[in-house]
Amino acid sequence: MLTAKGERWHRSRHPWIYRDDLQAVDGSAAGQIVQVKAADGRPLGQAFCNPASKITLRWLTDNAEEPIDRNFWAGRIQQALAFRQRVVRDSNAYRLISSEADGFPGLIVDRYGEVLVLQSLSLGIEKVLPMILELLVEQVRPCAVVARNESSIRALEGLPQEKGLIHGKLPERIEIQEGKCRFWVDVLEGHKTGFYLDQRENRLWAKGYARGRVLDAFAYQGGFSLQVAENAEEVLAIEDSAAAVERLNENLRLNGQVRVKAERANVFDRLRELEKQGDKFDLIILDPPAFAKNRGEIRDAWRGYREINLRGLRLLNPGGVLITCSCSYLITEEIFGEILREASRDAHRTVRFLESRAQSRDHPVVLTHPESRYLKCVALEVV
Ligand SMILES: C[S@@+](CC[C@H](N)C(=O)[O-])C[C@H]1O[C@@H](n2cnc3c(N)ncnc32)[C@H](O)[C@@H]1O
Repeated sequence: MLTAKGERWHRSRHPWIYRDDLQAVDGSAAGQIVQVKAADGRPLGQAFCNPASKITLRWLTDNAEEPIDRNFWAGRIQQALAFRQRVVRDSNAYRLISSEADGFPGLIVDRYGEVLVLQSLSLGIEKVLPMILELLVEQVRPCAVVARNESSIRALEGLPQEKGLIHGKLPERIEIQEGKCRFWVDVLEGHKTGFYLDQRENRLWAKGYARGRVLDAFAYQGGFSLQVAENAEEVLAIEDSAAAVERLNENLRLNGQVRVKAERANVFDRLRELEKQGDKFDLIILDPPAFAKNRGEIRDAWRGYREINLRGLRLLNPGGVLITCSCSYLITEEIFGEILREASRDAHRTVRFLESRAQSRDHPVVLTHPESRYLKCVALEVV
């Protein structure tokens, strides 16, 4: 049963209910689907319950009567598939199920051609996972399904860390296609579930700004580098993970791409060196990892983002474009805008705003779930 404050919060349509907003929770409901009631006993709907988690309820449906059974989950998978058919273009790798945004609280399923990779991040979804796996196999017919259940969020839900093949047989190599480029993806060892699928549309869009000399900083396995190379004279890709640089070079060979040079280096150091050498670029892409993972890290993250953006702006030729990203949810669009203003001021450059974007549409943003809009990607032009 919700408190009066909990009911007001629920009316905002946020899909999570916190422990403090509940009058009572049945301790034996861990991982179960529970009926949620208003303070006056009115039924409001049904939710996954985990009394041990601060996010105690995760909303499933406003319909208190609806049976949450095999048919319910089958219908939600069909809806998720139909949505991807509407929004995914030019690729066979995308997010098929995006947690709350698709009505699967705590479940992520990414598709790499014939291979599915999932992450289960809530106790409730973990309990129904065998049924969902069966349905995914029935509806999508993957050759393999891999679980990458290694997130720290699982610990908050009291779930163990684990990864491995849970269905079928993995092909020797997984090759995906994105626009005109091909990539080899390592779904067991790669970052996230193997690839940064949330940047797919931004990578294809960035191509439109590519010309002359391009710098791709925080390059991972060359996602942006390969896309922009088509319109550039040369691309310098910087990445500090040895495994990612190795895979980047393999991806260059796979595409016969010779205009990209990959360097293993720390971006912070390398940007300073490039500036000292008097290097200049026509397009710079900054796609760093999340610098702020909790509120306590915001101040340091602010400094980090300002530093790379300031250097990026100084390294651009007049008319050059900076494509700059932040995937920290805690660095809001407003904060990111303020950081970019500071960077422009400290770089002593006049900077024009061109465009602002979010994550690819297969990672849907739900308006009443602000946490679902986490990726910012801004294009700026130096005058
Ligand atoms: C968000 S990912 C980049 C994704 C990539 N742009 C893509 O589209 O596939 C960030 C990358 O930065 C790398 N990284 C983190 N800190 C770094 C540093 N200080 N210098 C260089 N690379 C770094 C990580 O290894 C990771 O590959």
